[in-house]
Amino acid sequence: MTETRIDDCLSNRDGVLFIEELASTELVERFGSPLFVFSENQIRRNVRRFKDAFEAGWTAGPVKVMPAAKANWTYAIQRVLAEEGCGADIYSAGELDVALRAGVDPRFISANGVPKEKEHIRRTLEVGARLTIDSLRDVDFLEELAPTLSKTAHVRLRIRPAISGFVKSSDFVAEGLVPTDITALLYKGGLSIDEVIEAGKRVMKLTHVEVVGFHQHHGRHKATTEYWEAQMRAYARDVGRVCKALGGYQPEEISIGGGFAIPRDPHNAATHYSDPVAFGALHLLSLGLKYLGSKIRYFVIDKLMGVAVKGAPNTVPAPSIEEYGRATTAALLEALPKHGVDPAGIMLQLEPGRSIHGNTGVHLSTVEATKKMTSPIKWNVVTIDTTEFWLVGGRYEHHLHDFRIANRLDAPPTMKADVAGRSCYGDRLLGAVSLPEVEAGDLFAMLDTGAYQEVSASNFNAMPRPASVLVTDNRAVVIRRAETLDDVFARDELPKHLAPAETAEPREQHGAVTPLAAKG
Ligand SMILES: Cc1ncc(COP(=O)(O)O)c(C=O)c1O
Repeated sequence: MTETRIDDCLSNRDGVLFIEELASTELVERFGSPLFVFSENQIRRNVRRFKDAFEAGWTAGPVKVMPAAKANWTYAIQRVLAEEGCGADIYSAGELDVALRAGVDPRFISANGVPKEKEHIRRTLEVGARLTIDSLRDVDFLEELAPTLSKTAHVRLRIRPAISGFVKSSDFVAEGLVPTDITALLYKGGLSIDEVIEAGKRVMKLTHVEVVGFHQHHGRHKATTEYWEAQMRAYARDVGRVCKALGGYQPEEISIGGGFAIPRDPHNAATHYSDPVAFGALHLLSLGLKYLGSKIRYFVIDKLMGVAVKGAPNTVPAPSIEEYGRATTAALLEALPKHGVDPAGIMLQLEPGRSIHGNTGVHLSTVEATKKMTSPIKWNVVTIDTTEFWLVGGRYEHHLHDFRIANRLDAPPTMKADVAGRSCYGDRLLGAVSLPEVEAGDLFAMLDTGAYQEVSASNFNAMPRPASVLVTDNRAVVIRRAETLDDVFARDELPKHLAPAETAEPREQHGAVTPLAAKG
């Protein structure tokens, strides 16, 4: 057998993609297609690398890795993180629930986000989790709840620092060149400096409430360490300002949020800033060519599209976890004292989401058909049995995922094709990528689908969502079963007046779902 490593958990063995010790072909045979596959060892490896890298740099105090539950809140995955001693960034009552059930220590659960319901805040405080103040409304609720609490509430103040020196365009805005500092300021998360100070003053007046530190999360605007350094300097400046305004307050913990890119960073790879210009030019040209007749017009457009329209996964690796660790901690350690904050003893917390989960997941699907158009223009479309509606997080961020033909890894690329999913939308999962000749039954693997994808899947077109399996060495177990059609319709209720009249042919005879109960 010949084996080539693709990365930590992926390898090419005799032309077949292996996830840890299991062949992707075998996984699909056992569990069906499409399938979300997660590597347990890769999750543990990512967590340990973050912990080691940040501990090496943050010499002032302890470090806590608190992965963003939103990136993958599957119960089994949260159990792996709890076993690794992780905390959790949670956004909702549901994420709080799964983190607690998984056994995450509530002292290292941070309830972030805006808006928050009062009941969610109450539960957060009652279980002893951290409340991150992200609006003055959170303070209103806290003032109301504080006298009723049985234990001291621990809260942190979320700052939205202006990274004023960082005017490079943000990757967040795919459509154009918006400076990072402006994009970050317009984001709903975090409080402006005046509001943080107001919130801090109000919270500090409350009994049974302790302000334990600060939080910030800027997001993945740029993959570079330079961006992280700028972020940390801006954060340290604003932490210093708030501490001063609160009468020389000294934080015990500082969270820097998430937003670290994954190695094969697929973020916004499906778009390019020059696209609007290129498409605009093509459009104008096409309008002009109309007067020369459709034959000439199609001929020219075909030639232009052959050269100009192509997609390819990103090949520039993002900084490593270790590089992020060094740059981030050094910038923070240098900047905090400059702004009057002594870092000694402060716990540094981080909330990586995509960078813990992204490269732990592979989405396997099966090729259904290839369509080859030769006239009036040449274009190929390969359809696969999955859909963008099961990979929503990535679509939202304009991902172009790296991919493999998992049962024939060594087949050389011979054609350019769109890879399209099964929903009735265009469902263009990968645009104009280079592929080998594929046939129905080939296995299509989209890499790096471990974060934000399965957890954002929907039932568009009434399609039952696929199963998830966890691979650990040579074992694979279902951690979220595939949905049935009954699951898809489980929440539907039929008012009595719309109940169908008795028919001679019950619906089951069509092989459809069991009839929905008519409810009054
Ligand atoms: C507060 C907070 N922390 C962490 C994260 C994780 O971000 P990422 O997945 O980019 O690391 C998010 C994502 O939105 C967030 O809102």
